[in-house]
Amino acid sequence: MKSILIIYASNHGHSGKIAERLGSMLTERGLSAQVHEVTKGDSFDPGPFDTVIVMASIHAGRHQAKMARWVEANAEVLNQKRTAFLSVSLSAGSGAPEVLEENRGYAKDFAEKTGWTPGRVEIVAGCLQYPSYNFLNKFLMKRIAKRQGLPLDTSQEYEYTDWDALEEFADDFRHPG
Ligand SMILES: Cc1cc2nc3c(=O)[nH]c(=O)nc-3n(C[C@H](O)[C@H](O)[C@H](O)COP(=O)(O)O)c2cc1C
Repeated sequence: MKSILIIYASNHGHSGKIAERLGSMLTERGLSAQVHEVTKGDSFDPGPFDTVIVMASIHAGRHQAKMARWVEANAEVLNQKRTAFLSVSLSAGSGAPEVLEENRGYAKDFAEKTGWTPGRVEIVAGCLQYPSYNFLNKFLMKRIAKRQGLPLDTSQEYEYTDWDALEEFADDFRHPG
């Protein structure tokens, strides 16, 4: 059976939630999927997997450094496999072409910096997770939310992820890459 690795980095848990849901979607389709959260200095070996899906979220215009280091260390192996890069961000939820273009730019920077050429890149809308933020992050995110017309009630989370689009993404892995 073809095996798929979903490796992710997550600051407040939302990309972890997406990774676990995607893992279940792939399993429901009869595929073998393993989900792994990258750690600092991670030596997890992508070698045994046929397909690798890398997921990282954007904070202040960049993806997590620990994921960049893992990808850079494994770029040679990844470049020989079927791969995808899922870039999670709040701004992606706006769906505005210029925002998606900017996010594609962050993903391109990530690929260039690590020496990895993802087979495909998906921009995924994340979540505004006020209850998980510390005082400073809550303040910063409220300011951004105000500028972008997003909700300001910090007692709640606001999820923008398109789960149907993720189901369609999972569907594609039923076919050979
Ligand atoms: C301090 C901070 C900075 C962020 N910076 C950005 C950003 O530059 N662009 C963006 O689109 N989203 C930004 N976000 C939103 C996150 O990308 C979004 O909440 C995502 O769902 C986080 O996923 P995670 O919980 O897996 O880390 C930021 C969030 C925080 C808390």
